[in-house]
Amino acid sequence: MRKNLVVAIDGYSSCGKSTLAKALAKKLGFIYIDSGAMYRAVTLYFLRNHIDMNNEEAVKDALQHIELNFHSRDYESHITLNGEEVSEEIRQMPVSENVSEVSAHKLVRKDMVKQQQRMGKSKNIVMDGRDIGTTVFPDAQIKFFMTADPKVRAERRFKELQSKGDTSTTLEDVFENLAHRDYADTTRAESPLTRAEDAVILDNTEITPQEQLDFAIEQVKLHFPE
Ligand code: DC
Repeated sequence: MRKNLVVAIDGYSSCGKSTLAKALAKKLGFIYIDSGAMYRAVTLYFLRNHIDMNNEEAVKDALQHIELNFHSRDYESHITLNGEEVSEEIRQMPVSENVSEVSAHKLVRKDMVKQQQRMGKSKNIVMDGRDIGTTVFPDAQIKFFMTADPKVRAERRFKELQSKGDTSTTLEDVFENLAHRDYADTTRAESPLTRAEDAVILDNTEITPQEQLDFAIEQVKLHFPE
């Protein structure tokens, strides 16, 4: 099969993008790249090192000291920040509460987009995020735009946090955080979340992960070269 085929998956926070992306990658034998994890890992670095987002020089300097790498095990994507495995820590609330601000910064976006484009150069990938079909890979062979009812999204995310032992975050906290991130993602100046005109819309409020995968595979078959 040809190299550098791209499946781009964008959409709102916690609407199952990574579930679909991982399942599709597995089915197609592609590499899964979670672009949100990159913004989260940068946020973790900024929090740990008290980087002032209003200080351009500090942001520029910090970015030069960040090395991100993905390690794929069973299609679960693991990310390292300067060699340290941070996949769990980047899902915790402190990062979730600050990632919108960090990911809205133009220098951060420029750096991440460059790295993401490099990852798609020589491999077949499924990448999920907010600007993959619009900015990172505007020529992707297939683009999905995912959405789901905000309440359903909050409940799913809340259950996930609970299953990981987080008993201090309430369902309201999660709902507010999602609403805040939706607003920030769609209204920011730098590549806001928006549906690419040629993206296939997938609303999974009332369908199962298997139904959504079946639908996506059908779409992929229609769009991919044999
Ligand atoms: O997919 P996620 O919720 O893990 O992403 C975390 C944050 O990163 C999200 O609030 C918006 C931002 N993000 C982005 O701006 N662009 C991307 N391509 C991916 C994520």
